[in-house]
This record gives sequence, C-alpha cells and structure tokens, in this order.
Amino acid sequence: MSARLTIVFAAVTALAAGAIAIGASQAAPAPVAGLDYELFKSKVAPIFMKKRPGHTQCVVCHTGANNFLRLEELAPGQTSWNEEQLGKMYTSIARLVTPANRPESRLLIHPLAPEAGGDLFHSGGRQFASKDDPDYKVLMQWAGVK
Ligand code: HEC
Repeated sequence: MSARLTIVFAAVTALAAGAIAIGASQAAPAPVAGLDYELFKSKVAPIFMKKRPGHTQCVVCHTGANNFLRLEELAPGQTSWNEEQLGKMYTSIARLVTPANRPESRLLIHPLAPEAGGDLFHSGGRQFASKDDPDYKVLMQWAGVK
C-alpha cells in the first residue's frame, strides 16, 4: 500500500472508530453475545500469550492470522496488548463464540484435544488436553458455559 493510501486508510479508520466511540470516552467495545470485556482483558487475553509446555504460544501463529482467531500485532518492545488492541480482539474473538450453543463454540472446540471432545485437527495442536485445564475453564467461563 502506498504511503498516501495508508494515511487515507488510517484517517478513515480513525473517523470510523471515533464515530463508534461517541458517548464512551474510554472506548470499551460494544458487548457481543453478553461476553464480559473485563474478564477478556484480565484473564482470557493472557492465555493467548502463555507458553504451554510442549506447545507454541497462540500469539506465535495467530498474530495477524488469516483465520478467525486474529490477535493484534505487538510493536517491538511491547509485552502486552493496549486497550485499543484488546477492544478489537474482544470484538473479533467474541464471534468465535456461538450464543445458541456455547459449549460447541469454535473458540472452545478447535484447540481442545479430540479425546476431550475437541476437533480432530488444529494446526496449533491439542493445546488443551482436557476441559479441566485451568485456562480452558477460563475460556469456558468467558464463553458463558455453565
Ligand atoms: C503452530 C501454530 C498455531 C498455534 C500455536 C495455535 N494455533 Fe490455532 N490455528 C492455527 C492455524 C494455522 C489455524 C487455521 C487452520 C486450522 O484450523 O488448523 C488455527 C485455527 C484456530 C481456531 C479456529 C479459527 C477459525 O478460523 O475458525 C481457533 C479457535 C484456534 N486456532 C485457537 C487457538 C488457541 C486458543 C491457541 C493457543 C492456546 C492456538 N490456536 C494456537 C495455528 C496455530
């Protein structure tokens, strides 16, 4: 993309973001499927960065990914996502939760081992061996699975 196009694009994006943010000074994203933004920020997002024994971190593959679990790129030296990035991730990752059938949400089933009810194949491996994994429980809690 040319520099000029980039600037135009950035300006349009900023305008759109501004329009959405009107009325909310600290632009928390609009709630999706009743999912808790505070819980996403404090407990869900850190799971994507965590190194799980025998596995690669989600961020390594899912940063700027072309599948639906898209994590925001960190600038050099940046060790955690800022508020704006977290807001974007909340909105997009919430779409991987199926309100009509929360336990079968893609976010929950895809990285789960098949023996535990997960999908047969995920390029990122069987990140969660069972639903008893503490981080998996956080994902379930966020997705609204009782
Ligand atoms: C080694 C790379 C890699 C790692 C690490 C990885 N993934 Fe993935 N993941 C992929 C790729 C590639 C896809 C798309 C193709 C596929 O389904 O395998 C994917 C797909 C997904 C999807 C489905 C997205 C869609 O488009 O429907 C989810 C959900 C997901 N991953 C969750 C996770 C979570 C959560 C973690 C960390 C706990 C993780 N992944 C770690 C590579 C990875």
